[in-house]
This record gives sequence, C-alpha cells and structure tokens, in this order.
Amino acid sequence: MKEDLKLINKGRWRGYSGYNRNMNGSNIVKVENLKKSYEMGRTSVEVLKGIDFSLSLGEFVMVVGPSGSGKSTLLHLVAGLDRPTEGKISVLGKSLGEMPDRQISFLRNQKIGFIFQFYHLLPELTAYENVALPLLVYSSEKRVKGHRKIEDMFDMIGLNNRSMHRPQELSGGEQQRLAIARALVHDPEILLADEPTGNLDTANGNAILDLLDQIRKKNHLSILMVTHNPDFLKRADRVLYLKDGKIQA
Ligand SMILES: Nc1ncnc2c1ncn2[C@@H]1O[C@H](COP(=O)(O)OP(=O)(O)O)[C@@H](O)[C@H]1O
Ligand SMILES: [Mg+2]
Repeated sequence: MKEDLKLINKGRWRGYSGYNRNMNGSNIVKVENLKKSYEMGRTSVEVLKGIDFSLSLGEFVMVVGPSGSGKSTLLHLVAGLDRPTEGKISVLGKSLGEMPDRQISFLRNQKIGFIFQFYHLLPELTAYENVALPLLVYSSEKRVKGHRKIEDMFDMIGLNNRSMHRPQELSGGEQQRLAIARALVHDPEILLADEPTGNLDTANGNAILDLLDQIRKKNHLSILMVTHNPDFLKRADRVLYLKDGKIQA
C-alpha cells in the first residue's frame, strides 16, 4: 500500500515539459532488440532474446504465447516497471532508457493505463478508492471533475452498487472489472493489459473487449494486450506470438 502510493506520488514532478500529442501515423510504442534476463542465484535466465515490434496510434495488438514465455515481462518493460537488460523502448517518442525513474513514473501516471494479471487492487481501500487512485496526482480541481469520471467508470463496468465494498468482498470477475476501470480512469493514451479477461467467461470477456474497442475508437487509445483466449484474436489488428524469447513470424 505505502509502496503503491509512493509510486504514484513519484509522478508529481512539476518540471516536466510534456509530450508531443501529435503522434499521427507514428509509433506510440517502439521496441528494438529488447532483451531481458533474470539472475537467479548464479544462473541467469534469458526470458526475452531480442524482441522488435511497434504499436501505432489507435492500434489494437494482442500478445499470445505459452505460459512463462515472457508476456508479462514484456508488458512490464514497456510500462517502465522494470528495466531491460539490453535494447531500446520508446514510448510516445521518448526513450525510456534515457529517463530517470521518476520521469518514467510521471509518464506512466499520465499516459499509460496498466491492467495487471493479478489485479493489484489495494485491499485496505474501497472499490471507489481503488479506481480513484490514479487521479491522486492531479490538482484538486481536476480531482473534483475526477469524481464524475469515477462514477462514469462504475457505470461502465456495471458495479455501481459495489463501490463501497473492499476488493476481497468482490468476485474475481468484479475485481477484474475494477482493475480495468482503474487503468482507464485517467484517460491514458496507451493501455497495457495483461490478460484482462482471464477471470471472465467468454460472454463477459467479449463485453469487456467491446468496451475497450469503444474507448479505443473514441479516444484514439492504443492497446497492447496479452490474452490466452484464441476466440479474441480475430478482434486484434495484429497478433504477436511470443515463444522461446522471440516473436515468431
Ligand atoms: N522477477 C523475476 N525474477 C526471476 N524470474 C522471473 C521474474 N519474473 C518472471 N520471471 C521468469 O521469467 C519467465 C517469464 O515470466 P512471465 O513474463 O511472467 O511469463 P508469461 O507472462 O508469459 O507467463 C518465467 O520463467 C518466470 O519464472
Ligand atoms: Mg503473465
């Protein structure tokens, strides 16, 4: 909890000059020769072995691959939640490798929505407070407007009557919808979604994808989403198949 708030507060960096919003036709995310190894004692496990791809404005790209192939690792790296071993990641035209941590936190707070595979909802907070969390970094004026936005998000996910509940009082599917609302409440430009329908049946999963598609078209949101469900792939503009540390042709 403290850690999470610290992460969010790290985003309060006033000296930052902002981003070029006019990214038409260019890459929202560009990943070049990305490598990631984890050191486990004296051995090193190479999870990503040279990944290249890009995500353009408004594009919906899905990532599939066997369990353990590094899909979550890839999303965490793009979000700047972890640093690569080698290679380059650019987000909205800025290279993450050249940014200090707090600048990356700021970028994430302002521009990126992240849906974690295991939600990462804060158990001490109500559903409402969990969704409100990304708005804490904004001025009080914006936060007042935020109240409307949060209510809209609860409408959208159909959990109006659950907003005062704690996450553990909600079903897996409801927690998942909450995590989706939290990822979108600050109108991000990029959504990174790690199996956001993993705990939903196909009908509810499709409803969530309809919703993401709607928001994508309305707000020019660009989406990179990991999924296990082959039924969903036909809805993607492009599918990346991750295996043995590489994107397969
Ligand atoms: N923080 C970590 N430390 C060590 N190994 C990790 C860490 N995170 C992931 N791994 C390992 O990296 C591999 C890829 O993990 P992950 O990205 O979660 O795969 P996926 O999401 O495709 O199932 C796995 O073998 C996992 O055990
Ligand atoms: Mg994963």
